[in-house]
Amino acid sequence: MYLKKLNVRQYRNYKKVELAFHKQVNIFLGENAQGKTNILEAIFVLALAKSHRTSKDKELIGWGEEFARIQGEVARKTSPLDIELILSVKGKKGKINGLEQKKLSEYVGAANVVMFAPEDLNLVKGSPQVRRRFLDMELGQISRVYLHHLATYQKVLKQRNHLLKTLQFGKGSKEMLDILTDQMIVLAAEVTIRRYGFIKRLQKWAEQIHHDVSRGKEKLEICYLSAVDVSDEIDLSKIKEAFYQVYKEVKEREIQRGITLFGPHRDDLGFLINEKDVQTYGSQGQQRTTALALKLAEIELIYAEIGEYPILLLDDVLSELDDYRQSHLLQTIQGRVQTFVTTTNVSGIDEQTLNQSTIFYVSEGTISQEMER
Ligand SMILES: Nc1ncnc2c1ncn2[C@@H]1O[C@H](COP(=O)(O)OP(=O)(O)O)[C@@H](O)[C@H]1O
Ligand SMILES: [Mg+2]
Repeated sequence: MYLKKLNVRQYRNYKKVELAFHKQVNIFLGENAQGKTNILEAIFVLALAKSHRTSKDKELIGWGEEFARIQGEVARKTSPLDIELILSVKGKKGKINGLEQKKLSEYVGAANVVMFAPEDLNLVKGSPQVRRRFLDMELGQISRVYLHHLATYQKVLKQRNHLLKTLQFGKGSKEMLDILTDQMIVLAAEVTIRRYGFIKRLQKWAEQIHHDVSRGKEKLEICYLSAVDVSDEIDLSKIKEAFYQVYKEVKEREIQRGITLFGPHRDDLGFLINEKDVQTYGSQGQQRTTALALKLAEIELIYAEIGEYPILLLDDVLSELDDYRQSHLLQTIQGRVQTFVTTTNVSGIDEQTLNQSTIFYVSEGTISQEMER
């Protein structure tokens, strides 16, 4: 799929922008703090109804404005797609082909994007929260069922934590806790089995890509780390049983602490290169390659699941990669994946890519195809 047109209103430092894009490569060129990342973020938010760099939607609305609006025309193998997202202080609304979607989970994933930004190094080094966010965003855009289970899990978790706080002070009902625990187990199992399956599929691609980028020297493994043991042999009912045991064992401790101690909200991912933990032992370069392999794997995974390549957003990373990694990346996407690149300088981008691209000049929240003099 590719983005043909984009309309942005009152988003970050953009008052009003209307753009038509190149089918292959689009380069946003400009000095720092002009709005390059903002425009990439707008495309990301248009597809996923969430920003990659903040969870506070209010920050996305232009200062002093009541709302922001992003609209785009996407070309697909099937029918063309018109999507629109309106962000206001009251919340978000998504429209697909003019029809307002009752739930945001029905809007998310109509268009698919993969972003690779400097922050993605945090995927390996950062806190577990970063990796869970990655899981939820990426799996969420290819599985509505997952988004639905996840949202319900979070709702029940909140209720359960609230009750545990009450119980901690000797009030509230333990019967109610058992009811909520049973509800949560069903949802926790659904979330867990889907995350596990996603990581297994992603691993297949990532391992191959990492192998190539490391010139055959390294074997990358991704592990899903959960409160319960998950493996290929295990099914939904076994996972539920395992969660049941966990919550039975920690019940008194949870009441004492007044919080849910185990579950998908505490899960994590682990990365191994040649059987060594990348977080602990990996060099900067290995962490970078791991993050790159993950992102490239996502592109292939989305293609396998959806039958269309996603739109790729590269924020400030192209010139950061060494020649070998850059050419590997460009080879992967060559002609197949519409790509948006931000940079302060085109000299870091190879000739062949420049030849099949449109350059947009970004300056103080305006974008033009002509360089200002
Ligand atoms: N909600 C907002 N409303 C208006 N301007 C904003 C908002 N959020 C960020 N900005 C401005 O956007 C600019 C940064 O844009 P960004 O896209 O991150 O720059 P870069 O070109 O370096 O990627 C800053 O000048 C910042 O003040
Ligand atoms: Mg930037």
